[in-house]
Amino acid sequence: MAILEIQDLSFHYPAGEQAVLDRVNLAVEPGEFVLLCGTSGCGKTTLLRHIKKELAPFGARSGELLFQGKPLSSYDDRYISRNIGMVQQSPENQTVTDRVLSELVFTMENVGFPSDLMRRRAAELSHYFGLDALLGKHVFELSGGQKQLVQLASVLALQPQLLLLDEPTAQLDPLAARELIQLLHRINQDLGLTIIVAEHRYEELLPVVDRVIAMENGAIRHTGTPREAVGALWTDADERWKDFVPPIPSLFMQVQETDSPHEAVPLTVKEGRQQLRRLPGFGAARQ
Ligand SMILES: Nc1ncnc2c1ncn2[C@@H]1O[C@H](COP(=O)(O)OP(=O)(O)OP(=O)(O)O)[C@@H](O)[C@H]1O
Ligand SMILES: [Mg+2]
Repeated sequence: MAILEIQDLSFHYPAGEQAVLDRVNLAVEPGEFVLLCGTSGCGKTTLLRHIKKELAPFGARSGELLFQGKPLSSYDDRYISRNIGMVQQSPENQTVTDRVLSELVFTMENVGFPSDLMRRRAAELSHYFGLDALLGKHVFELSGGQKQLVQLASVLALQPQLLLLDEPTAQLDPLAARELIQLLHRINQDLGLTIIVAEHRYEELLPVVDRVIAMENGAIRHTGTPREAVGALWTDADERWKDFVPPIPSLFMQVQETDSPHEAVPLTVKEGRQQLRRLPGFGAARQ
């Protein structure tokens, strides 16, 4: 059974004439890691906010969202806040306390966890996220990447079933962004957590996600594995989608035979190098 099912979801903001979500249909399986992409304003944040129902925007909506097989509206808010976690762009807007440790504990206190469980979870998370040395620090002393890690750890403290992230690396430098994405990959692999992330860093995400959903004007334009998505975006009649294909697969698409299977598309530098070795004349070349 899908952990999340979105059926014909459409939505208008009160002031807007156009549908911001236009008959979105989507099923996400438990353990899937999904990348939501599309140009600015295509509706990614609006869609994520409908899933995290306490953040759902006000407006006219039709269609249905099912979480673990039942309408999202049938769950109480406490259940949703425990089971659907969300990390947003700006860690500043999400931190609520002043110390790292209290930030980790805050969400657990809010849902009434007993203190021994809070202590155990905080210790486990701090170890897993490498935050031990930061626990006593003030949140304002942390770098943007560290703040986002603390934010993610505090969301995971509730052990949600579904994790949503809305451009979590938008304010991070490239190195911190890369580390956060690798951490998401590890969480997905180790814990089997279902993750949906809206992001613009395709180069880092394509190799680690299971599925890509490309949105345009509130509707899903393409969906498939990263390699399928690269093929579909590259051959889309609208040339602007080519900009979504990162340099390594893009180079491959430019030189490949037109009938090459999409399974062959390299997503990483390593895969690109392996492809190069197969080309006549490149095999013996130093790479
Ligand atoms: N509160 C609001 N009232 C009216 N229109 C809104 C509101 N918030 C967003 N919109 C509009 O809804 C559309 C979708 O916005 P949304 O923020 O969901 O896009 P997005 O894909 O997340 O964009 P970005 O990549 O810039 O974050 C845009 O046209 C935006 O202008
Ligand atoms: Mg957005």
